[in-house]
Amino acid sequence: MSISRAILRGSELLTPSVLGDFGRPHAWSVTGIETDSRDARRPFWIDGVQSKMSWLSLPHPRFAPAVLAVDRALAWYIREVPLANQPPVSLAQAEYLGEVLAGTRPRANEHFEILVNFARTMYRIGQLDPGTPQVNLGDTLTALSLVPQSGEARWTFDARIDADAFAKLQFRETSVGIGKTRRENRDGWWSHAQKNRAFIEDVVGKTKGRGLAVILGAGHAFDLPLVELARSFEKLVLVDIDAEALNATVAGVLKDPGLRARTELRFLDLTGINGQLVQRVDEAVASAANAAEALDRLEALCWTYRLAEPPRLLPPSEHADLLVSSCVLSQVAWPQRVYAKRVYERRFSAVPDPLKLRWARHFTDLELRLQQDHLTSLAGVAEQVVLTCDVVSNGTVLDNAGIERKSGQTIFALGVPSLLERVPKTFQIEGHASWEWSRYKATRTGKGSRMDVEGARLTVTQTPHGLEVP
Ligand SMILES: C[S@@+](CC[C@H](N)C(=O)[O-])C[C@H]1O[C@@H](n2cnc3c(N)ncnc32)[C@H](O)[C@@H]1O
Repeated sequence: MSISRAILRGSELLTPSVLGDFGRPHAWSVTGIETDSRDARRPFWIDGVQSKMSWLSLPHPRFAPAVLAVDRALAWYIREVPLANQPPVSLAQAEYLGEVLAGTRPRANEHFEILVNFARTMYRIGQLDPGTPQVNLGDTLTALSLVPQSGEARWTFDARIDADAFAKLQFRETSVGIGKTRRENRDGWWSHAQKNRAFIEDVVGKTKGRGLAVILGAGHAFDLPLVELARSFEKLVLVDIDAEALNATVAGVLKDPGLRARTELRFLDLTGINGQLVQRVDEAVASAANAAEALDRLEALCWTYRLAEPPRLLPPSEHADLLVSSCVLSQVAWPQRVYAKRVYERRFSAVPDPLKLRWARHFTDLELRLQQDHLTSLAGVAEQVVLTCDVVSNGTVLDNAGIERKSGQTIFALGVPSLLERVPKTFQIEGHASWEWSRYKATRTGKGSRMDVEGARLTVTQTPHGLEVP
């Protein structure tokens, strides 16, 4: 297939919204990249073109495979896009994106859509033609996380729980809501839990080390094989922000004193920034002279979010054999937007319709980057990583015959229809599964929801020189 046809077919399959429909990914290889990771300051060449991303020489090597993938894909796109009619991302936009990622031009309002459209177009092209550079939204957001923005405040990853933020972001209420929803649809949740547990148990079987397993977002552990995990590893660490939920779970599930003795509970904030964020949202709204200024301040807050250092969930001395992030990726980044809206509306009124798109753009931008930082935090700390997540929520209704059917309304929890579009080249995808979860059942009076859930088994990618990326 010609390159221009590939770009066009990529664009045909894009919907106007950045939340359009895409398919399955394809494994990536680093062959063809002329680079020497032993000489970090040497400029490198991709397909005969010198990389513009000079800052690439500086970042933590954990990010290198993702950044290289983006650089390579951008170089390819910029060379090929003049051959395409009406491409989804124009040459000027691709060049602009390259400059934003190189840190030589500041981000602007339309930057987010260009970045997402580029990533999704390239992902689609990569599926159609495996010979083209493979890149996805996870790679592009990872690369963006390394670019300093002018005027950015320092965001320090601090996993200690901030009590004020815990209350304001309503984590306890959310946990209680999860328990209630499960009680109302036990069959649907049981079926999902069986598949989620089986996926995790399968990876346990493929894990060589038996020392330490760490489970993130363990909460109610509805979908976790806690007893099997505690039996399989010398030490089991369970992490959640909600101490009450986790204490109750462990008391109910790990009754055997031997298994309980091997289990350690850690109460942590996996984002590392909820305390800072809540404080900054409060300040932005309180100090604004009017509603327009408050919106500007919140927008700047979203744009300038960037962790000063890569997130670290375990102390440097600790290395896990298995790390599980189970149905938590979709949960780490939505309460902040809900909170900001509540604070804004309490002082002013509802965001006016013409500004809703702007609000959605900036908070989606923040949300996707917070999620990406969660994915980054999974790298380099374990032999094997299990990542499961609800990816698409399909609305359901009862038809006239009383049969539950999809209504056509979809919500993309990760901004894309496939979990694998969010997994950066930092990781090698070793296994993948998908299943459906009936979360809420539709009733005569209320809509329901069926989730598309995916699981991935990940290991850390080797660099082109065979060195493990730490
Ligand atoms: C949907 S539940 C995950 C399901 C869980 N694996 C189970 O089986 O019940 C999400 C969990 O992540 C926790 N969580 C959400 N945000 C968090 C954060 N920032 N830090 C730590 N835990 C968080 C919640 O308290 C909740 O227990």
